[in-house]
Amino acid sequence: MNIGSVKWLDIPKILDERGNLSFIEKSTCLTFDIKRVYWIYDVPGGEIRGGHAFKIQKEVIIALSGSFDVVLHDGVTSSRYSLNRSYKGLYVPEMYWRHMENFSTNAVCLVLASTFYSEADYIYDFDAFINISQTK
Ligand code: TYD
Repeated sequence: MNIGSVKWLDIPKILDERGNLSFIEKSTCLTFDIKRVYWIYDVPGGEIRGGHAFKIQKEVIIALSGSFDVVLHDGVTSSRYSLNRSYKGLYVPEMYWRHMENFSTNAVCLVLASTFYSEADYIYDFDAFINISQTK
């Protein structure tokens, strides 16, 4: 299937004795225009977020604080990515089944999304996701 690859993004980090600063601009990191930003926080221990795929949404996931794992499935294989640095982004193209787990206390999961919110873009059924993946 012809989908893009998952990539780590090195987000610029301005070291400063007063506290570090990072930023994202399209020219430096992003291959899409950000349409929406959302974040997941106050996740109780052991909870799992996600558990779906997006048909067209691309996203960058950042652990702004704390840590968590992003587990991705491309229709054939599954890979786990541990996020624990606020200057590392995980670029996830469309058509990856994904969930997030192992949230630490005070973890904040920031998502930069290429689309406005649309329930129609979600695939909630894993078997349907596999079928759609195989026809792409
Ligand atoms: P959902 O994407 O299912 O969360 P998860 O990260 O666990 O996959 O979204 C949870 C709820 O929040 C759902 O009712 C839809 C709503 N929601 C919005 O209204 N706007 C948004 O941008 C997002 C991401 C979710």
